[in-house]
Amino acid sequence: MSSFLNSSIGKKFLMSLSGLFLLSFLLVHLILNSFILFDNTGELFNQAAHFMAANPIIKVVEPVLAIGFILHILYAIILTLHNLTTRPVGYNKQKQAHASSWSSRNMFVLGLVVLTFLVIHVANFFWKIKFTGHELLEHGMVGEVENTYLLVTTFFIDWWWIVAVYVIGSVALGLHLYHSIWAAFQTLGLSNQLWRRRLNRFGLLVSILIAGGFAVIPLWVKISSLL
Ligand code: HEM
Repeated sequence: MSSFLNSSIGKKFLMSLSGLFLLSFLLVHLILNSFILFDNTGELFNQAAHFMAANPIIKVVEPVLAIGFILHILYAIILTLHNLTTRPVGYNKQKQAHASSWSSRNMFVLGLVVLTFLVIHVANFFWKIKFTGHELLEHGMVGEVENTYLLVTTFFIDWWWIVAVYVIGSVALGLHLYHSIWAAFQTLGLSNQLWRRRLNRFGLLVSILIAGGFAVIPLWVKISSLL
């Protein structure tokens, strides 16, 4: 078992498993965050955020999510370093450039952009909600339900550059996912020639949904505050 996990395919296997787990988190996260678009009183989003924070299943899933991120990043670094030291040169390199898409050759860079976004994101929302607190969270609190909506929307309304960071982060995430979804299924042995095309289309659809969805939320909040 440990020799499998130390092999190149074993590392790719773990990256694929952790990646698909992170993808399921992203889909749930997007659905919850989309409540910001559908109710500008913030009640729906606040109730959903409170439900998630108080839910015992989510309390168990949160550390698993953190481990998933750490594993995914760690193995990405190890595999990238390995690929750099065994890189094809000359003609082989040109052949590789033709055979692979821009995003597949730049997965690590795209991952770094997403990671930078994630650090800014977690520091501004998760950290304040879970650890330091913020006066906006207490504004108009209903019982135990904090005003997460006010914290999030004020952040987007007050800082244009933050909206830009979210749009760039979402596009990088979409490109990262576009390449990785079918590749993850392939590594896990769940793809063949017929399914490869279908999974490619499915990956494209999910990537557009996630990139578009996460980018639209800050843009919508900022633009509607100007109208
Ligand atoms: C419009 C875009 C987004 C909004 C409004 C948003 C909002 C939030 C909020 C309010 C929290 C804190 C939840 C809590 O602790 O109660 C959070 C946490 C988190 N977000 Fe996002 N998010 C967005 C996009 C993203 C994206 C694109 C990613 C991943 C690349 C992401 C990853 C995370 C993670 C890992 C956490 C910490 C775990 C958790 O609390 O569930 N978010 N987000």
